[in-house]
Amino acid sequence: MSATSTQAPGVPALPQLDAYRSLPAVQQPAYDEAALAEVDAELRTLPPLVFAGECDILRTRMAEAAAGRAFVLQGGDCAETFGGATADGIRARVRTILQMAVVLTYAASTPVVKMGRMAGQFAKPRSSDSETRDGVTLPAYRGDAVNDFAFTPEARAHDPRRLLKAYHTSAATLNLIRAFTTGGEADLRQVHTWNRGFAANPANARYEALALEIDRAISFMAACGADFDALRSVEFFSSHEALLLPYERALTRIDSRTGLPYDVSAHFVWIGERTRQLDGAHVDLLSRVQNPIGVKLGPTTTPDDALALIDRLDPARTPGRLTFITRMGAGRIRDALPALVEKVTASGAQVVWTCDPMHGNTITSPSGYKTRRFDDVIDEVRGFFEVHRALGTVPGGLHVELTGGDVTEILGGAGRIEDVDLATRYESLCDPRLNHQQSLELAFLVAEMLRG
Ligand code: PEP
Ligand code: CO
Repeated sequence: MSATSTQAPGVPALPQLDAYRSLPAVQQPAYDEAALAEVDAELRTLPPLVFAGECDILRTRMAEAAAGRAFVLQGGDCAETFGGATADGIRARVRTILQMAVVLTYAASTPVVKMGRMAGQFAKPRSSDSETRDGVTLPAYRGDAVNDFAFTPEARAHDPRRLLKAYHTSAATLNLIRAFTTGGEADLRQVHTWNRGFAANPANARYEALALEIDRAISFMAACGADFDALRSVEFFSSHEALLLPYERALTRIDSRTGLPYDVSAHFVWIGERTRQLDGAHVDLLSRVQNPIGVKLGPTTTPDDALALIDRLDPARTPGRLTFITRMGAGRIRDALPALVEKVTASGAQVVWTCDPMHGNTITSPSGYKTRRFDDVIDEVRGFFEVHRALGTVPGGLHVELTGGDVTEILGGAGRIEDVDLATRYESLCDPRLNHQQSLELAFLVAEMLRG
């Protein structure tokens, strides 16, 4: 008997969640099938990390962003690591995002939708399958969910049991995020006090006036008797790249309220630049889940590609369903983005446009580090706002790689990190991240752009 013939009347037929299995899937680990089957069986018994209803709430928030009534801030590590999931590390990342969000909320005069590249961002697409050091070639590091960074054959083997560790580390991370953001840590006045500390640094004098304005706004709210208790907790959503199909499939569950499938590994999942083939497995699987989803669009994307992705991923044109995360590069955005935005807008589709000013701006420094220039990051965001302003469309948000610590991975910023400084604290196992100061600086600069 087929799965659909037993369904109650009125409940939609189960979509073909396994159709992706017969489609080409790039960037997948080479697993031992028997070991994967065991892991898959175990993953399917584990509870959801998020609730379907929370994904629906996020979709309504994203719909507000698409309409210009909210602004999205999505940020976190390029690659989370199991070792990096410490209380201090998680707290610092959440704090950084909350601090940025206060500045952006004030400048945009709209709510900011806060989303971590957190609690699941453990897998990476790679441009090369292997890495060679001193004549030794081993499989490339693909994120802690797949293999270990250490350069030995054992460490670099693809081990499906790591998917279980990814799940449990995501659960622990999300638990702490929920505690931080609802247990008083996110109090608006507290978060603003941290920002005042940042602006009081002479290197950041340029931002002091704005910090003072926010100060006055908070005093004004207090004088008016604003309910600060209500501001002690914030909504914070989880997100990651939906790269590893066995993991995402095992965590795709049918919601008992609606009978519809949700990927309960995170509130929001996105398809990367390397895995967004229209007839590929990633697009197929995510086309069948109800979550709000994103797709990265690089500089070679044609308007027809974008329109076809909309037809595949958002055929019903559901508000808030689809986000296009553009990552063109500072030198390309002003040329590459207008045609995409124009054609998508002319088609009547309403997507959220967000700007990832990181992945189109990666360079190798003279000393050999994979890095980015802070000025290029800012310039791409500036170009993003210029394009949307010129077209009368909505610049809906930002997608950034950041961390809460004092790392030295990106050149420039008020702290003037130079090539010689990169070696001091370069900790990323993958792409370079804005450090805490650079993240706040970005927020203050974007605040200036938001105010025009
Ligand atoms: C990423 O977000 O870390 C990433 C790999 O991005 P992209 O797919 O845009 O290259
Ligand atoms: Co990255």
